[in-house]
Amino acid sequence: MNIEIDTKIKKIENVKENNLKKFYIESYGCQMNFADSEVVASIISKEGYDSTTNLNDADLILLNTCSIREKAEITVRKRLESFNKLKRNNNNLKVGVLGCMAERLKSKFLDEEKIVDLVVGPDAYKDIPNLLNEINDGSNAVNVLLSKEETYGDISPVRLASNGVTAFVSITRGCDNMCTFCVVPFTRGRERSRDPKSILTEIKNLEESNYKEVTLLGQNVDSYLWYGGGLKKDFSKANNLQKKTSINFAKLLKIVAENFPKLRIRFSTSNPQDMSLDVITTMASYSNICNYIHLPVQSGSDVVLKAMNRQHTRNEYLSLIKNIKKLIPDCGISHDMITGFPNETQQDHKDTLSLMNAVKYNFGYMFKYSERPGTYAAKKFDDNIDESVKKMRLQEIIDLQQTHSKLRNQEYLGKIVEVLIEKESKKSVNHWAGRNQQNTVVVFPKKNHELGDFVQVKINDCTSATLIGESIS
Ligand code: SAH
Ligand code: F3S
Repeated sequence: MNIEIDTKIKKIENVKENNLKKFYIESYGCQMNFADSEVVASIISKEGYDSTTNLNDADLILLNTCSIREKAEITVRKRLESFNKLKRNNNNLKVGVLGCMAERLKSKFLDEEKIVDLVVGPDAYKDIPNLLNEINDGSNAVNVLLSKEETYGDISPVRLASNGVTAFVSITRGCDNMCTFCVVPFTRGRERSRDPKSILTEIKNLEESNYKEVTLLGQNVDSYLWYGGGLKKDFSKANNLQKKTSINFAKLLKIVAENFPKLRIRFSTSNPQDMSLDVITTMASYSNICNYIHLPVQSGSDVVLKAMNRQHTRNEYLSLIKNIKKLIPDCGISHDMITGFPNETQQDHKDTLSLMNAVKYNFGYMFKYSERPGTYAAKKFDDNIDESVKKMRLQEIIDLQQTHSKLRNQEYLGKIVEVLIEKESKKSVNHWAGRNQQNTVVVFPKKNHELGDFVQVKINDCTSATLIGESIS
């Protein structure tokens, strides 16, 4: 009996070896792109492709690209160039570009980068099977149609390079905000929310596979709104029943927290203009929702905020922070900041520094303004801040953030925090690394703990980026 089963398995394996093509996928940019690559992997696996992490084995190389700053696009173009040799050695190798650069450049990509065979925008991944047929027949293929409905809610993502502990779950796609500097509304289309049922199914599958933490993802999660499908902007046209039974982000958070009491729940990104008191009180009411909010502000100057079309003032932002700290005193808060936006004066820059001093963020992501073709800012404003000034201002805010991060981390000295073990520390095989609720990395000796354990760790030391401690549980 055993022998028979063995041969059968061998036979199947042989067929697999002969037939299976291999795809290699690399993701750039935001977490959403990494999550999308898992959707793409699921679609391609059904087409008889197996994933590989070795470029040399691949029949199909896919880059899931980012357009947010010029630098991100240059990185992708350089990477494409590096595939030239592989393609010379393997006539059958195909190269595809997915994501925001695909959407921005469309078929122009094929002219600009001769190595590219396939261009697919963020809402067209379900068409990949047809597009693969086209490229395997020797032609190029492009689909960059944006959708009003597509959320990939019915696709169960294949977890790529996963630690088996933490995972992303998309809840909205697109963005309706039109910040004047930002290319995302053009590359990812209008905002739509995913059916809560499919969100819950995906999380349930993750829990059953032993995952311990999920991050609900969207460009602007606080504006999540399910009323039976359709664009966020069309909600006003929904009928009474749809309006009455609609689910906003606070409700979704509550449902997820109650259904999965053992999972840690995170979300990203919050937009200050949409973050409601309801969301903050929901966070405060459930201990499994992590006390951490990524709350991009972009600038501390009202003049710049207005020119950026951010829908809040400096003071409104600061009172939101006050409310967060009142309801969740130990909440970790991080930011995104842009320096050198058109016409940014020295006073505007000082306003940014003073806002940072007022909040003292736990950490932050800081960028030089990069003009993106097609955006309102590119059309209407002159990119008139000298590169050297942008650079200097960026360095100043990075330095200030580092001081604040150190300060915030020092507040943990002597305290006990709960850490979810995610991986081995990069610096030592004898240490685990994980994060506390506030999203700060914590490193501690392994002892007999395992990957995926929740551990109580006493903090003894810190740098500006990391807390260092010892488990007491
Ligand atoms: N949805 C998020 C932002 C997504 S883009 C939000 O609500 O703010 C991630 C970050 O990239 C932005 O917060 C912004 O700080 C930065 N960014 C976007 N466009 C940029 C540009 N043209 N130049 C420099 N930084 C930019
Ligand atoms: Fe971009 Fe503003 Fe939306 S930064 S992703 S347009 S909230």
